[in-house]
Amino acid sequence: MTESLKDAVRRAAALAIEHLESVERQPVRPKRDADSLRAALLLAPPARGCDVDELADRLASVMAATPVTISRRFFNQLFGGADPGAILGEMVVPVLNNSLYTFKVAGPHVLVEEALIRHMLPFAGFEGGDGAFTPGGSLSNFVAMLVARNEALPGTRERGLDGRVGVIYSSAEAHYSVRKAAGMLGMGRQNVRGVPVDARGGMRPDALAEAIRADRAEGRVPVMINATAGTTVRGAVDPIDAIADVAAAEGVWLHVDGAWGGSIVLSERHRGLLRGLHRADSFTWDAHKMMGVPLTCSVALFRKPDILRAHLSEVATYLFQADGDRLNPGTRSLQCGRRNDALKLWCGWQLHGDAGYARRIDALLDLARYAAEAVDADPELVLAEAPQTANVCFEVPGRSSAAICERLYDEGLAMVGTGEVCGRNTIRLVCVNPDQTTEDIDALLAAVKAVAASLPAEDDAA
Ligand SMILES: Cc1ncc(COP(=O)(O)O)c(C=O)c1O
Repeated sequence: MTESLKDAVRRAAALAIEHLESVERQPVRPKRDADSLRAALLLAPPARGCDVDELADRLASVMAATPVTISRRFFNQLFGGADPGAILGEMVVPVLNNSLYTFKVAGPHVLVEEALIRHMLPFAGFEGGDGAFTPGGSLSNFVAMLVARNEALPGTRERGLDGRVGVIYSSAEAHYSVRKAAGMLGMGRQNVRGVPVDARGGMRPDALAEAIRADRAEGRVPVMINATAGTTVRGAVDPIDAIADVAAAEGVWLHVDGAWGGSIVLSERHRGLLRGLHRADSFTWDAHKMMGVPLTCSVALFRKPDILRAHLSEVATYLFQADGDRLNPGTRSLQCGRRNDALKLWCGWQLHGDAGYARRIDALLDLARYAAEAVDADPELVLAEAPQTANVCFEVPGRSSAAICERLYDEGLAMVGTGEVCGRNTIRLVCVNPDQTTEDIDALLAAVKAVAASLPAEDDAA
């Protein structure tokens, strides 16, 4: 192995450490707009390559201009923080450079995936079921929808839909990936029903049953019900058990999108929120959200054993040459070449164990409760609702939530976004980084109020 490669690895480690050491000193969002970044950074690939010193300098400049998502002042998205175990695993992945389609080229990493999936299935109540790693919750939802479609509309895999119309039922507040997948699967975005929600943001089982009956009466085929465990804006959990009653009565596939809140099954204290999950047919669980594994790391789990191979396998004698289907995950994957997303999760799990992850989830939900109580106790702020999981939505009455978030961003004070709750534009604060403390929440709320005071008065109805 060449010295230059080892040098490159050492430099990568040094740059990573420098970044970690500077995280809380620098603004969460370096002050640069896209045009000035284009001008300042040497982004176009050159005709002649540079030496490694120059390369490291260029890379450092890109890193210095990068939004600091691992900062304790980042509340903007459903991921954040940095986990030592998972990062240790992730950092060796490129030097191993396996592709997770065959045992022949991935060896123990196929077994790592297998062990993780086997360990995760019982948390969903799917002992002995099937599962696969995917590049994110959107793709986990996609693969579940693909399987549900093929099961409800036999022959689709070979002949297409053949004029049949399949319908997906998802709450009006579900993630857009469900609608997008319906378009990608040839089912049509307009065939996703946005089932009304109750006051707490949960899908209404009565409205769901009514929508299914109306479609059947008109000759359409109900394909899948998507219940969300942790909606993107409100963190609401659909009433899975009551929805499973409807799914069972109607004979419709039940998927639970736990991309955001699925990890709550790790917590003994809170897993009751997902009551009825064991009755579902499939489950999306993103480890790159509440479990803090670096992007991307998502798993699609299925109650029925061996179901993925039935819907995804292809014959490829140039690829699958030994070891049988079980040891060749490429026979049940959306992808051909596939990066190793499992090793970082395996390392995280080795370091924390089930107990450590349970503590992590409890801490995130406790911090969200603290934030909600702090908002509620503050006469200058209005809490939109008590949090069900780790999202806290609130307003500064008479001020634009979007303008507040934009000002916080422009000044590099914090990154936090907005979301609509019951017709109001709110600030959506997400607790996903277990390094954050109550002081970080207090500092954010103080910054929100200070910024709001400098903004013009306006009503913020959505
Ligand atoms: C409920 C829900 N489902 C699916 C997704 C998509 O996940 P990913 O970003 O991993 O594709 C998200 C993302 O925020 C989500 O909140």
